[in-house]
Amino acid sequence: MTEPTNTIEEEKIQKEIHKLLQDFSSTRENLIPILQAIQTTFGFIPQEALRETAAFLKISPGEIFGVATFYNQFRFTPPGKHQVKVCLGTACHIRGGDIIMEEWKRRLQIKEGGVTEDHEFGLERVGCVGCCVLAPVVQVGDIVHGKMSPSVVNGILLQCELAKREEDKTHNETE
Ligand code: FES
Repeated sequence: MTEPTNTIEEEKIQKEIHKLLQDFSSTRENLIPILQAIQTTFGFIPQEALRETAAFLKISPGEIFGVATFYNQFRFTPPGKHQVKVCLGTACHIRGGDIIMEEWKRRLQIKEGGVTEDHEFGLERVGCVGCCVLAPVVQVGDIVHGKMSPSVVNGILLQCELAKREEDKTHNETE
């Protein structure tokens, strides 16, 4: 009998977390560094990670959740395949970062912090990404797009769509 995918996935996450926790001593002061390491590894904080960290630090998962939600650097849902980070630091805000955020929301039909149904795109606001001279700035995956305008949003979406079609084509050809 094959194991349900969920269980396999949970076991994989658990193993990964056990490995990751070995780099830390079990003191409360390590909570934030541990959560940061988890997020770097998975791109978000899975439920299993909350439970494992709670057991490791001997505090309740609820308390960890409370601390983690206080810092808005942590997310509890998987990011989109293309995670769109709209900079709303001072320079970008002054140069219309909010308009860019609204355009992404309108085009993707999601709210800030959301992910599209097909998990292709996630949307979040970030503080200064360090290239204010290019404001307003948006980071999609590892690529920083400067001097953003609503029409550039369209261009980026089109690029992603074309890349996806190409990927699907390659995938279908290799099957
Ligand atoms: S404020 Fe957006 S890059 Fe600095």
